[in-house]
Amino acid sequence: MYKIAVITVSDKGSRGERKDESGPAICEMIGGLGEVVSSHVVPDEPEILQELMISLSDMEKVDLILTTGGTGLSPRDSTPEATLAVIEREVPGLAEAMRMESLKKTNRAMLTRAVAGVRRSTLIINLPGSVKAVRECLGVIMPVLPHGLEILS
Ligand code: MTE
Repeated sequence: MYKIAVITVSDKGSRGERKDESGPAICEMIGGLGEVVSSHVVPDEPEILQELMISLSDMEKVDLILTTGGTGLSPRDSTPEATLAVIEREVPGLAEAMRMESLKKTNRAMLTRAVAGVRRSTLIINLPGSVKAVRECLGVIMPVLPHGLEILS
């Protein structure tokens, strides 16, 4: 069983002004792949997100970190930048596949800047913020995650 961490990146969510539904949607979908050992709601603050991802990777040694939110164009959206700052190797195919498949459902898929990559032996993947986008994007990459995680471990 892989160790999985889920991070919801949302200013409103972190202030309790919006119920986090995307994090639970990820947990529900990813359950078969491993154990969700921690879930977090953090504001759109790149330093906070970076510190959390580093700690989950280097200290907690989780196999997979899934983030949701903060991948768009609003001035506070900084999840991709925070992710790029902590990963050592990018895995562009995951983000490319999610965008490619999502475009068949909505042309707004062009608006996510989500990235994916590896830090040490942790795979980190950005997903957009809405529950719909989480379901669509995670559905695309789920089939390859077991093999990807197996190679990393
Ligand atoms: N991808 C899928 N599959 N389905 C969606 O509904 N929404 C898009 C895009 N990607 C969407 C999607 C929209 S409307 C935006 S603004 C961007 O993701 C960025 O979302 P975020 O800022 O919540 O991360």
